[in-house]
Amino acid sequence: METNLLSHLPASFPWRGKLHFFEVLDSTNTQIRRMAVSGAPNGTVVLADAQTAGRGRMGRSFHSPASSGIYLSLLLRPDCPAQKLLHLTCAVAVAAADGIEKAVGIRPGIKWTNDLVVDRKKLGGILTELVLNATGEVEYAIIGIGINCSQSTEDFPDELQEMATSLSLCTGRPVCREAVIKELLLSLEKLSQTLFSADSLLARYRADCITIGQEVSIIRGEDVEHGTALDVTENGALTVLLRDGTIKTVQSGEVSIRGMYGYV
Ligand code: BTN
Repeated sequence: METNLLSHLPASFPWRGKLHFFEVLDSTNTQIRRMAVSGAPNGTVVLADAQTAGRGRMGRSFHSPASSGIYLSLLLRPDCPAQKLLHLTCAVAVAAADGIEKAVGIRPGIKWTNDLVVDRKKLGGILTELVLNATGEVEYAIIGIGINCSQSTEDFPDELQEMATSLSLCTGRPVCREAVIKELLLSLEKLSQTLFSADSLLARYRADCITIGQEVSIIRGEDVEHGTALDVTENGALTVLLRDGTIKTVQSGEVSIRGMYGYV
């Protein structure tokens, strides 16, 4: 992967010297956190061919078999309070959609908050993690992106087969992982330069977000409420018109959102 990717990237790419490749990791997010603690700089990127403990939102796992997907984490060290980055996951989802569209010509939709979706199936996901210092400033941000690339339906575990897709499945042809990683990295680097333009990043997110306007179930533990998703706020929260006429604002991390009749 390494030589091939480097040959795809422009010589002037500013993070070129900060790319780290691994055959197998527990999780690229966990690895980059270890590196951040040891002082790794802004723009450090970790890529793995496989993960044994890939993580998703709300403690879920992310299926990460060898040579089939993209497992990428990026370390950013923006100098700001956490409140300035509440839109980070949304912004990364749009950047990932940009990169995928550029590489393979298909633009995924985004299922609030962090799932990339094609044909009502999950293509991948985003896991961002902020580490704060004692005064509430961001010490560093970890941006994790996982994308299914070459799996056929049978390659997914039984419980995922109905709801997961891959780039090869949705394009109908083999996909070069390095070409996709290249576009993701270019797109993420561009995002890093406009990270604080929350309004325009969220406007783009709303345009990609397939959840808005949908009938949804809000699942919090055993509690389930039903309503219609209305909008995404300036903090990346979802507003939902419940059946009793009240409007509820739900934060990512707190609840799971399902379409009324399935995953999307
Ligand atoms: C989700 O589905 O909720 C998010 C999935 C994010 C998976 C990626 S793979 C690279 C990075 N390392 C991880 O352990 N998770 C993210």
